Amino acid sequence: MKYLSCRDIESSLYIAPNEIRSCCQRFFHKNKMRGDAKLLEIKDGVTPKANEIRDARENLFKKIQNNNAASCEGCPFLYETDTKPKFSNEIKHLSIEHHSVCNLRCTYCSETYYGGKRSKYNVVEFIEYLNNSGSFKNCKQVVWGGGEPTLDKSFDLIIKEIEKKANPNLYHRVFTNSTRYHKTIEELLKRGLIKIVTSVDAGTREKFKEVRGRDKFEELFVNLRKYSSVDPNRVTIKYILTEENLSENELISFVNKCVEFNLRECCFQISMNYKNKDLSLNFLKALLFLMGLLKENKIYKFFTDDHVSARFRELNEENKSEIFRFIDEKNLSNVVFVKNTFDKINIYGAGDIAENIILKNMLKFNKNNIELYDGDPNKIGKLIGGIEIKNPEEIKRNNNKIYISAAQSYDDIYSNLLSMNISDNRIVSGLFL
Ligand SMILES: C[S@@+](CC[C@H](N)C(=O)[O-])C[C@H]1O[C@@H](n2cnc3c(N)ncnc32)[C@H](O)[C@@H]1O
Ligand code: SF4
Ligand code: SF4
Repeated sequence: MKYLSCRDIESSLYIAPNEIRSCCQRFFHKNKMRGDAKLLEIKDGVTPKANEIRDARENLFKKIQNNNAASCEGCPFLYETDTKPKFSNEIKHLSIEHHSVCNLRCTYCSETYYGGKRSKYNVVEFIEYLNNSGSFKNCKQVVWGGGEPTLDKSFDLIIKEIEKKANPNLYHRVFTNSTRYHKTIEELLKRGLIKIVTSVDAGTREKFKEVRGRDKFEELFVNLRKYSSVDPNRVTIKYILTEENLSENELISFVNKCVEFNLRECCFQISMNYKNKDLSLNFLKALLFLMGLLKENKIYKFFTDDHVSARFRELNEENKSEIFRFIDEKNLSNVVFVKNTFDKINIYGAGDIAENIILKNMLKFNKNNIELYDGDPNKIGKLIGGIEIKNPEEIKRNNNKIYISAAQSYDDIYSNLLSMNISDNRIVSGLFL
C-alpha cells in the first residue's frame, strides 16, 4: 500500500494565535491558495497538552489518505511512501507566529499578520509542556514570524524556556522588520544562536513609508548596521518586489543605502509579493537589474527565493527576445546563466527551487552542465529531471562553480561550504535563463 505524507506533518509545528498548524506552506492549486494546514483548534484560554500533537498529526495524515484535506490537496511537498510514518510529539522544526501585533502596515501584508490578535492560550506554558515532554530534543531550528515577534515580551520568555533543554545545535531564525532595536537579538548574534531576515523593500524614506506604512526607514538601517556589525553572515536583507518599488531608481537607492550602512557582507534575498500569481516581465527585469546592481557593488551573496522560482515558466519567443535585449542593454550577462554559455556548475540544494530551475527553466539550458548536491541523506541518489543528487562532500572533487539553490538555508549552506575549505570565489549567484 502507498501512503502520502510530508516532512512537516511528521516533524514540524507551527504556532498561530488561534490554532496550531502543521506547516506554513502556501501554494496555489485549482485556483485556490492552500497550505497552512491546521492541526489543532484552540479552545479559549485552554493551553493544549503535548500529546495532543501526535493525535492531531495522525488525523491530518488520515484525511490526506482519504483525499479529504483541502489545505494539503495538490501540495508540492507531499511524497509517496510504502511505509506508514510513525507519528509522535517530536518537533524538528518549530515555527512561532503566535500573535499578529505589528508596528508596520506593509501593503503586501494583511490583517492576518498585523491585525493585533493575541494568542488565545498561554504560549509560554505550551512551550514548557513540549519542552518537558522532550519534544525539542532533536529540534535544530525555531523560526519566528508574526506579527512582529520582537514586540512582545514572550519573545524573551520563550527563548529562555527553549534554552533550558535545547539541542546544542538549535538556532533561532527570526523574521523581524528591525525597526526597533532588540538587545536579545544582538546578544544571540554574539553567541551564534540566531539568524535574522529583514525585508527592506524600498530605497528611499518616501517609498518605505508608502510600501511599509510607517516612517521607519532610517531606524531600520541603523539597527541593521548594528546587527550586521556583530556577524553579517547571520543577517539576510530581503527585497520584496511589488508593483510600487521596482523602478530602477528605487533599486539603485536601495543598494546605495546598503553600501552606506556597511551591509555588503550580508545575504540578500530577492523575493516578490506572493499574492501575484505570475512573474511578469517587468518583475523579471527588476530582478535581473537588482542582481546586476548588487554584483556591481561587490555584493556577492544574493539569491531569489521560492516565491520567485515557483513562478518560473517557459518564455515565449517575443518575451525571450525582450529579456535578452534588456540583458544586453543593461549589461547584465554576468548575472545570468544561459543555455550552453556556462561551464559545468554544481547546484547545492535539491529542494523546490532546484526543481523549478531544472524542470521549468525558462529558456531550456543544457542539463548535462549541472551537478546536483544536497546534505539531506534522504535525497542522495534520487533524481531531479534525470540529474542524480549527490553528497556535498563530492563537491571537493571538482572545481566547478557552485550555485546555492535555497532560500531559508542559503546562509547555512554558504557557511557549510566555507567550513569545507571551499573558496568563496567558487560560489556564484544569478538567474538561470
Ligand atoms: C508576515 S512577516 C512577519 C515577521 C516580521 N514582521 C517581518 O516582516 O519580517 C514574515 C515574512 O513574510 C514576508 N511577507 C509578508 N507578506 C508577503 C507577501 N505578500 N509576499 C512575500 N513575502 C511576504 C515578510 O517580508 C517577512 O519576511
Ligand atoms: S502536505 Fe503541504 S499543506 Fe499539508 S501539511 Fe504538508 S506541507 Fe503543509
Ligand atoms: S512588518 Fe511583517 S507583519 Fe508587519 S505588516 Fe510588514 S510584513 Fe506584515
